[in-house]
Amino acid sequence: MSGAVAIVGATGVVGRTMQSILKERDFPVGSLRLMASARSAGNVVDTKWGKVVVEDLALADPAGIDIALFSAGGDRSREHAPRFAAAGAVVIDNSSAFRMREDVPLVVAGVNDAAAAGHQGIIANPNCTTMALMMAAGPLHEAAGLTSMVVSSYQSVSGSGHQGVTELLGQHDRLRPEVHGLMTGGWPEIEPVLYQRPIGFNVLALAGNLVEGGYTDEEMKLVHESRKILDIPDLMVEPTCVRVPVLVGHSVAATLRFQRPVTVDEAMSVLAGAPGVSLWKDRVPTPLDSAGVDEVLVGRVRETVGEPGGINLWAVGDNLRKGAALNAVQIAELLL
Ligand SMILES: NC(=O)c1ccc[n+]([C@@H]2O[C@H](COP(=O)([O-])OP(=O)(O)OC[C@H]3O[C@@H](n4cnc5c(N)ncnc54)[C@H](OP(=O)(O)O)[C@@H]3O)[C@@H](O)[C@H]2O)c1
Repeated sequence: MSGAVAIVGATGVVGRTMQSILKERDFPVGSLRLMASARSAGNVVDTKWGKVVVEDLALADPAGIDIALFSAGGDRSREHAPRFAAAGAVVIDNSSAFRMREDVPLVVAGVNDAAAAGHQGIIANPNCTTMALMMAAGPLHEAAGLTSMVVSSYQSVSGSGHQGVTELLGQHDRLRPEVHGLMTGGWPEIEPVLYQRPIGFNVLALAGNLVEGGYTDEEMKLVHESRKILDIPDLMVEPTCVRVPVLVGHSVAATLRFQRPVTVDEAMSVLAGAPGVSLWKDRVPTPLDSAGVDEVLVGRVRETVGEPGGINLWAVGDNLRKGAALNAVQIAELLL
């Protein structure tokens, strides 16, 4: 069965990855429509399904669309996803607009697929950092009942879209000749545009926007989305989200605790059999390894030091693929 598919936000880093993934996975696309802002409207894109003219989302008529993959920011989702759903499309939304709504399933394909069936026209894709973590935490929860997670993320700049990539590359170019200043102090002041502090040759222990109690929205997404996906309303989550000068690949270092002690052997055996997970035993998986790869790479699985019985691990996933576009297409596959 093939249907009409729309990509909304088609010119962005996630939207373009969606197009590649539909092609790679031979998704049954009867016809493809691409939508973005008025700035891109009229551009012609060569696709597997022929040349497609980018439409202005604000003017686009959703009639006839079966599946709409939204990736154009929360405001666009809030404004347009309901009218697409009302016209009969199933919307799979990458923004945070609907993730916590009770009538909207929040689905990590391979972890809580069954939730998708309860949709009422909109299904939400989780945040890219939550996604990487859930791929490892989900199967371990199935095995031993997760009770708490202490999580630090190391998030790439493409998680902020094409502007994040531009900012990192621009700062690298500007600072590269300033090695002395970078190593001894006195580096030239640069004006960050997207981030609050320089990201080139630096680490920013504040990813997202401050929302409550000194936490950022990225951190609170880790808390609330994990609870919803795993269906553990009282799951304890202690999040710290950090932006790092990496182009693609979000990493997480997590300490997981369970209802009963879990050994490294058991954790490794669960992770080795987990769908969409690649367990690395001999080498440390890095964001560079994750780029362009569908699986979430998990390594450094260790037993907790202080209080035995918990598991420390490292997981890294391509934020544009499993963290966004791939998961959206996998959800669409669940609907077929
Ligand atoms: N990057 C990630 O790792 C990631 C992961 C998970 C979820 N997401 C979510 O995915 C969405 C897009 O992210 P991205 O990283 O692809 O961003 P991006 O590279 O900045 O692309 C943004 C896209 O949205 C479109 N857009 C912006 N304003 C619009 C408007 N007024 N009307 C219609 N379209 C508009 C842009 O079209 P123009 O080119 O015409 O401006 C472009 O296609 C966001 O909601 C983000 O939170 C991103």
